[in-house]
Amino acid sequence: MTKVTMTVNGKSVSAEAEGRTLLVNYLREGLGLTGTHVGCDTSQCGACVVHVDGKAVKSCTVFAMDVAGSEVRTIEGMANADGSLGVVQQAFQDHHGLQCGFCTPGMVMTTAALLANNPKPTEAEVRHELEGNICRCTGYHNIVKAVLAASGQDAGAMAAE
Ligand code: FES
Ligand code: FES
Repeated sequence: MTKVTMTVNGKSVSAEAEGRTLLVNYLREGLGLTGTHVGCDTSQCGACVVHVDGKAVKSCTVFAMDVAGSEVRTIEGMANADGSLGVVQQAFQDHHGLQCGFCTPGMVMTTAALLANNPKPTEAEVRHELEGNICRCTGYHNIVKAVLAASGQDAGAMAAE
């Protein structure tokens, strides 16, 4: 075991990790940040998405050691400073972009990275960017609405499901 240090949600943190420890396990078990979920063992579901140096990354696909020294952001870092929901989180709540909520942390993190790169995506672009995030409950319609609303666009213009 080696001590691995990185910045998570703006704070320098350290936890013990083996060479094979995945970032998702480092976050969940090493740091207790269980908002990042594990929904598969095939790197397909996207429930584990976090930001590493500003990029959306499936945290089950990288070793913690390989991102030592990086800036990592997790769902726990997405609220406003006063504890209220951040813009993307609020849009998911307002537009019923979740049911069981298991996929939601990954959806929110992917959405935040998408909007940082493309502040006004089209519906087609949103659907394309969310391809790596699987939701087993919602049928995606309200998730896409939430993403458009988070970008300040009129989600009401979307065709009914
Ligand atoms: S747990 Fe990472 S993609 Fe499913
Ligand atoms: S809300 Fe249940 S998996 Fe997406």
